[in-house]
Amino acid sequence: MRIIKAADYEEMSRKAADLIAAQILMKPDCVLGLATGGTPVGTYRCLIEKYQRGDLDFSQVSSVNLDEYRGIDRENPQSYWYFMHDNLFHHVNISPERINVPDGRNLDAAAECRRYDRVIENYGGIDLQLLGLGLDGHIGFNEPGPAFVMDTHCVDLEESTIDANQRFFESREQVPRQAYTMGIRAIMQARKVLMIVNGKNKAEIVRKAFFGPVVPEVPASVLQMHPDFILIGDEEAFSEIEA
Ligand code: PGA
Repeated sequence: MRIIKAADYEEMSRKAADLIAAQILMKPDCVLGLATGGTPVGTYRCLIEKYQRGDLDFSQVSSVNLDEYRGIDRENPQSYWYFMHDNLFHHVNISPERINVPDGRNLDAAAECRRYDRVIENYGGIDLQLLGLGLDGHIGFNEPGPAFVMDTHCVDLEESTIDANQRFFESREQVPRQAYTMGIRAIMQARKVLMIVNGKNKAEIVRKAFFGPVVPEVPASVLQMHPDFILIGDEEAFSEIEA
């Protein structure tokens, strides 16, 4: 595990974007595992700036997103499909046929999860996986549980996750209760894993996840065992550890 400390959100975002840009430069047809949420918005903004300056070419890049709400249309502004287009894909030259997000419109959970695992397998896995960190230690929507779940699967969201995501919806009732998420295998098999964390509210879970035991009750803790895991955080998120 490599820990990179940033002064603030902007610096965290710049450093993460630099590593993603390096990955694309090294391997123009790389497979990026991408994440949604508040944390990566700044990273995507930096990537768009690099693209607009002519420093980055996404034309050969493929993307596989971590997760999607179950039972949501792509046109719904709260869908992760929409989020990714709004925050990144519409602003760079990635090919639409190389964009992959679990299909929230498909209510057949078993079929959709199998399809998504095959998509990842057919690519030969992920070169670089970007992750945020949930307040309960989730990665993607791999929520705390009695065991790490390996395959893409359908999850019931934790109450704390519904609370955290309610800010994006008009009311708590509108937050979907289920989601499809990439499992721990695809994340752990990514050749490089990059997590970004910022803010005081993440400080406690950063300590638990990366300075505590590796347990499925804290899903992100499994990353301690990844051979190329980079954690970039701001001072607030690292305030409970010695980084
Ligand atoms: P956030 O979410 O980036 O909105 O804090 C992180 C996550 O739940 O993975």
